[in-house]
Amino acid sequence: MKVIVTENKIQGGARAFEIFEKEIRNGAKVLGLATGSTPETLYQSFVASDLNCENLISINLDEYVGLKPDNPQSYHYFMQKHLFDKKPFKKSYIPDGMTKDVAATCKAYDQIIKEHPIDLQLLGIGRNGHIAFNEPGTPFDIGTHEVKLTENTIKANSRFFDNEDEVPKSAICMGSANIMQAKKIILMAFGEKKAKAIKEMIEGPVTEDVPASILQKHPDVTVILDTAAAQELDDKYKN
Ligand code: PGA
Repeated sequence: MKVIVTENKIQGGARAFEIFEKEIRNGAKVLGLATGSTPETLYQSFVASDLNCENLISINLDEYVGLKPDNPQSYHYFMQKHLFDKKPFKKSYIPDGMTKDVAATCKAYDQIIKEHPIDLQLLGIGRNGHIAFNEPGTPFDIGTHEVKLTENTIKANSRFFDNEDEVPKSAICMGSANIMQAKKIILMAFGEKKAKAIKEMIEGPVTEDVPASILQKHPDVTVILDTAAAQELDDKYKN
């Protein structure tokens, strides 16, 4: 994995954008996108740029089950607000959290990814090493699936809701098998709360207990950190 340490999340977002822009100019057409606080500075860079996204396809990692697209906490809403309203894409896929048939929706999402192989996948990481909603213990070899969220994740997400009871208890999420098929991956992490997960992802064993550790087996991963998220990482991994 290539590790880039920047001073703060603004610079980290700008650095990630440089890579996205280069890949798009070199022909990348399908972007795997993520939500959460981490990618916000990257999306700000997209919006501030003159990059035209109208020929691009986006495929998002996940969506809560039970939230309508116009719910401000849904990932549909997040993407509209932070990116698509200002930079419309040719087509944007996000799992349908309101589906009546979650299994069929997961299967159809796998098919979408198969038909539109992801050129560049963006990821954040959870404090427990999760990627998307792939929590510790999730098998590495699965595709899009429904995830029951852990107490830790529900707690971490509750900051976006009025109270913890309103946080959805499950999500539809791309699996590690989908993510690993992306041609190129960028994982971003900012803040000291991510430092342990980053160390385990890069220095630790590849184990389903740390879902992000599977990325050690991908041939083209760039990790963009700020100094706080990089603080536990051995210097030899920083380049
Ligand atoms: P965050 O979440 O970007 O809001 O920190 C990332 C994640 O939990 O995957």
